[in-house]
Amino acid sequence: MPSPVRKAVIPAAGLGTRFLPFSKAVPKEMLPVIDRPVIQYIITEAVEAGIEDILIITSRHKKVMEDHFDRHAELEAVLLAKGKAEEAEEIRALGELADIHFVRQGEALGLGHAIGTARNHVGNEPFVVLLGDDVMMEPVLKGMIDSYAEHESSVVALMEVPEQEISSYGCAAAEPVGGSLVKVTDLVEKPAVEVAPSNLAIMGRYLFTPSIFDEIDNTKPGVGGEIQITDAMLSLLTSEPLYGYTFSKGRYDMGMKSDYLRAVVDFGLEREDLAPAFREILVEAVKREGLL
Ligand code: G1P
Repeated sequence: MPSPVRKAVIPAAGLGTRFLPFSKAVPKEMLPVIDRPVIQYIITEAVEAGIEDILIITSRHKKVMEDHFDRHAELEAVLLAKGKAEEAEEIRALGELADIHFVRQGEALGLGHAIGTARNHVGNEPFVVLLGDDVMMEPVLKGMIDSYAEHESSVVALMEVPEQEISSYGCAAAEPVGGSLVKVTDLVEKPAVEVAPSNLAIMGRYLFTPSIFDEIDNTKPGVGGEIQITDAMLSLLTSEPLYGYTFSKGRYDMGMKSDYLRAVVDFGLEREDLAPAFREILVEAVKREGLL
């Protein structure tokens, strides 16, 4: 039996330069999609996939994230006194979603380095990594964990992107295995379009065996002078199989303002309490703008 996948690592130390001016004083992970910060969607996705223990890699000025997942007894008491039991329960539950820990990266040396700081916490077991910029509506992480149960190998989420966009991502060459799974044969971080081996882009979900930590330790700075997780994975490929879990929709890049708007629309339409009024707003806007 493979060991169960219990732990998740969420790198959240970045400066958020793609979402300024919002991210000047507020961490980009706290960007709201309706009434929940992005980091809450990410953590809920992990918990729904069976994760019990979450390590968030942070940096300076990110304390507000800790507060969001802490109990807030005073607020709970005020809500209860006002007869708002449902709201009080929602706030209380946030403090008990999972066993959430924080560690500081200290120096911004790259995604690979950030994941490497989780070594002591993760220990010798498989774990997942969720990048906070990528919000998913599909149960991609769950599918990856199921694949691990079958193959006991590392897995990375992959999605086809238009050819000219591949240089914004890690890129994978792969062979089909069956269903959503492929076997990764090569990896390049942010290749130029002309040399990209495919249009399969790495999206922000990874499942690693603990051997990734030794590979990270041996990885030299790559693209942008940073220690890249993609380079560590390429090196892992020489000793262990690496699978790709392919999917085609339901991913939102929170660093892109247009994708953020798409997320607000799609998540808004999923919300039973808001969808009826929101649909009317959208129909009215479409008519007013002559969009159809
Ligand atoms: C990171 C990874 C890249 C991956 C991307 C997904 O890049 O390095 O391989 O494709 O996340 O969002 P970043 O967007 O941090 O530059």
